[in-house]
Amino acid sequence: MNGKPFAQPMLKDGALKGKVIVVTGGGTGLGKGMSAYFSELGAKVAIASRKIEVLENAAAEIESKTGNEVLPVQCDVSNYADVEKMREAVVNKFGTVDVLVNNAAGNFISPTERLSNRAFDIIVNIVLKGGYNCTLSFGKYWIGKKQPGTILNIVTTYAWTGSAYVVPSAVSKAGMLALTRSLAVEWAKYGIRLNAIAPGPFPTKGAWERLLPGDLVEKFDFRKKVPLRRVGEHQELANLAAYLVSDFSAYINGEVVTIDGGEWLQGAGQFNMLEAIPQEMWDQIEQAVRNANKKNHKKEEK
Ligand code: HXC
Ligand code: NAP
Repeated sequence: MNGKPFAQPMLKDGALKGKVIVVTGGGTGLGKGMSAYFSELGAKVAIASRKIEVLENAAAEIESKTGNEVLPVQCDVSNYADVEKMREAVVNKFGTVDVLVNNAAGNFISPTERLSNRAFDIIVNIVLKGGYNCTLSFGKYWIGKKQPGTILNIVTTYAWTGSAYVVPSAVSKAGMLALTRSLAVEWAKYGIRLNAIAPGPFPTKGAWERLLPGDLVEKFDFRKKVPLRRVGEHQELANLAAYLVSDFSAYINGEVVTIDGGEWLQGAGQFNMLEAIPQEMWDQIEQAVRNANKKNHKKEEK
């Protein structure tokens, strides 16, 4: 945490007390940040991914800070049997489960024509198959038990714009967004809500090593792409996630909330490139436009 107002914890103490929350990929990066904040707010948290040692270390670190129990569960989300076992382990430990955060992901940059079919599969299997495996397993559980549930899917802004050079991730995130919106309607009758968060750049080891390796990090400085001229703070994302999994957001369903400092719109607006014009040039430009208008008016009068 730091002194910036937007990087402070936002919800009141105990806001998630009594909730059991599963975060896939909760041992590292943004998943770890969300898990720590959910735990700080009183939730019982389970973190699930492939590397048990990483999970155990993260769980111990979070528990020591918050005093609330954190359960590490080894699970490859691309394997449905693993996901079922993970859900059972959480229910055995905590008695129930209320929230699923589909956060686990795999990604790397590559021209698509260089990818083998296996390379494409490996990303889709983590992000899209992993996402629907967990959603199906938890959804069936809640529906069978006649109890409500909440799902939060971590996507990206290129879920709707698409993006070159990360195509397996883009098609998978687009699928997760479609899953969010489809089931928000279909499963509302069971008291199951689904929402998504689309983060812009939030530096993490996992993402930066695979998306900005070597000196690409200086060459493609994300801060320059973001109208607010900064990257995200993990606590900002954790604040939004905590709100969306809490009962305070009970009427929000099927929504995707973008938290990117305006990054994707910067790339979309046709005249956004005019940002490059220095302030002192605007007098000259305005005069040129006004002169052209005057000329046109004179022609019309003749
Ligand atoms: C082309 C590649 C490649 C590369 C691997 N492959 N790297 N092809 N370019 N750079 C190919 C391999 O040759 C192989 O295909 C196939 O992919 C699988 O490779 P493996 O060696 O088995 O897998 P490995 O490279 O160990 O693992 C890939 C991975 C791994 C599963 C994606 O990086 C991982 O576990 N990542 C999890 C964490 C992560 O990715 N976090 C970032 C999320 S960031 P062949 O045919 O040769 O067998 C994110 C942010 C989005 O999503 C937005 C940010 C702003
Ligand atoms: P990260 O630290 O690399 O997190 C990815 C996590 O997914 C890891 O904990 C990894 O753990 C887990 N994982 C990978 N494959 C798995 C599998 N088969 N089964 C279970 N877990 C698996 O990256 P991050 O930046 O925090 O990303 C978190 C989420 O935010 C992702 O959904 C990502 O797409 C999204 N996002 C990030 C950014 C950003 O700027 N960082 C921007 C937009 C969206 P194991 O290796 O132990 O399995």
